[in-house]
Amino acid sequence: MAEPTAPPLDNAPLHDTPADVKSRLKASYNAIATKYNEWTIPHSTTRLHYLSQLLDRLPTSPSTPVSVLELGCGYGVPVTQILLSYPNFSVTANDLSSAQLALARASLLPDPPGPAHGRLTLLEGDMLALDFEPATFNAVVAMYSIIHLPRAEQVEMLRKIVAWLKPGGWVLANFGAEEVEGREMGNWLEEEKGWMFWSGWGAEGTVEKVREAGLEVVVQETRDDEVDDAKFLWIIAKKNGS
Ligand SMILES: C[S@@+](CC[C@H](N)C(=O)[O-])C[C@H]1O[C@@H](n2cnc3c(N)ncnc32)[C@H](O)[C@@H]1O
Repeated sequence: MAEPTAPPLDNAPLHDTPADVKSRLKASYNAIATKYNEWTIPHSTTRLHYLSQLLDRLPTSPSTPVSVLELGCGYGVPVTQILLSYPNFSVTANDLSSAQLALARASLLPDPPGPAHGRLTLLEGDMLALDFEPATFNAVVAMYSIIHLPRAEQVEMLRKIVAWLKPGGWVLANFGAEEVEGREMGNWLEEEKGWMFWSGWGAEGTVEKVREAGLEVVVQETRDDEVDDAKFLWIIAKKNGS
């Protein structure tokens, strides 16, 4: 009897998230980091639009320290770089991919030391495994990164973010606008190496989860992506308190 043919991977919906999703994503981003950055970063109008809306809500006076956590920072351009351009900001930037973080280190922490020296901490690993004291950060930024967590983990991540935020702190993040338990692609951007996984609760479902996590949603907008054939929900949300 003929073996059943495996379904094509391209944009295939998944019901069971592969157990090795994190190691496969890490391997993919290690392989495609440069290609990903060259493909998307020149088209950062949307990133900058929402980043500027977040910055409008944060103190920029040199005497007021602001602590920001960035999840899935990639190579840190332009978002981490802009955050660090404010001398009162300290940034903890995390990414799963060692290749992305090596690029971030090279672009943000040049030798001889530049103005960001001493204000940037780079942390490699799964964002869900990060551990901080409660009320550590004034803001958490996550662009195109929480989308890679299986959606049950997205809920857990939101709860952790809320715990790590100071009262009155802010979150800027985007999520898939489509409701999908899991979606995989075999060759995203790079034949063979670019296995990719995304998941999401959809625009309405995500807003609900963000609220349930304890955040007040201040901005919620669904937009077509600038380069990918996908829609994203952009959220700016606030933790209650002063
Ligand atoms: C689509 S890129 C976005 C990079 C950057 N934030 C941007 O706006 O271009 C997704 C990034 O998230 C990272 N990533 C994926 N899963 C992650 C996880 N579980 N924890 C931390 N980073 C993760 C990837 O390595 C990759 O650099």
